[in-house]
Amino acid sequence: MSEHDDLSSDLARLRALSGVKWTRYPADVLPCWVADMDLRTAPPVTDALRDLIERGDFGYNFHAAAALPECFADWTEARHHWRPDPPRVRVFTDVLQAVHLALWLGTEPGDGVVLFTPVYPPFFRMVTGISRRIVDCPLDPVGWRLERDALDEAIERAAASGITTRAVLLCSPHNPTGRVFGPHEIAAVAEVAAHRDLLVISDEIWADVVFPGKQHVPFPASSGLRPDRIVTVAAASKAFNLAGLRCAVAHIGDERLRAKIAELPDHLLGAVSTPGAVATRVAWTEGGPWLAETVAFLENQRDHLIERVNAELPEVRVQTPQATYLAWLDFRAHDLGDDPAAWLLEHAKVALGTGPDFGVHGKGFARLNFATTRAVLDEAIDRIVAAVG
Ligand SMILES: Cc1ncc(COP(=O)(O)O)c(C=O)c1O
Repeated sequence: MSEHDDLSSDLARLRALSGVKWTRYPADVLPCWVADMDLRTAPPVTDALRDLIERGDFGYNFHAAAALPECFADWTEARHHWRPDPPRVRVFTDVLQAVHLALWLGTEPGDGVVLFTPVYPPFFRMVTGISRRIVDCPLDPVGWRLERDALDEAIERAAASGITTRAVLLCSPHNPTGRVFGPHEIAAVAEVAAHRDLLVISDEIWADVVFPGKQHVPFPASSGLRPDRIVTVAAASKAFNLAGLRCAVAHIGDERLRAKIAELPDHLLGAVSTPGAVATRVAWTEGGPWLAETVAFLENQRDHLIERVNAELPEVRVQTPQATYLAWLDFRAHDLGDDPAAWLLEHAKVALGTGPDFGVHGKGFARLNFATTRAVLDEAIDRIVAAVG
């Protein structure tokens, strides 16, 4: 089969998908933006969902979600060497719901919330939309490291303008840079949080897409901060490509926060669907072998992308992601304006993530999702090279 045939058949399959990734743009655009994979999920997950369909098993089902805290604890302990305490784990429809709730109930209007920028775009509105204030702490732009001094300075700067910082919202591993924060970096944030009595909300949705040589450190595994000051949020959705099924979990260390959630009106938060809960359980109990193959595939895609960027787009700077399937590309040397994704959409017909959406430090950057087939990735790179080169 020629490369062209591969691309045509890949595109025929992908363009039939109904999600936002493949429907937002016209057919002449290659979408490499939102963080969905173009790969099918793990066969045990598909089998379990097919079984539900064949049995017509769509009645009320509270057992499916009730099984998740224990599965999450087993999975996380085996992979990341920290055992969540199942009674402290609550199931949510998605990661952002849990993050937003923790921010809303764990802080007061006017409080400062630290964001390590650039960062996943919805975080900004999640803070400002509930009248909290962003305390911007830039990651070091050379290695995208979390730095204790930068964090202290950001909090002091905010204090000088009348903002009291009460929480840190961390994305670990980090979207968009693909950094896996090491134990010392995590411990430094934990120390500052302990010293200043900050609530830490750690969004660890990317914990299972980490490449060989790096180890994800769950925030509660770091020393220096009482477990009751940490909310850790996770899901199978990024690693197993299940985002549309809507299911996530949060380990809520703080008893008072759990009590506040329990006091909310009964149906305010809704409940996770049976397919979402079943898919997540099966991913976390039977998905290990598939995930290992998938991470190896993604590592290959990553290396291919980085090799081609270095060879064919030498002025585009990029650090090799240690996790995620996202590459954070610095186009500033090419003078494509603040928003290279807009320029590339017009001139290369490739849709990337918009750099400035990730904060002011995202100007001149764009984010490329490489979780696609080799043929689609190569076509996207070819188009960017032809437009920019
Ligand atoms: C860091 C991060 N958090 C949260 C989400 C969204 O998760 P959910 O759809 O479960 O809210 C994403 C999606 O890409 C993400 O990258």
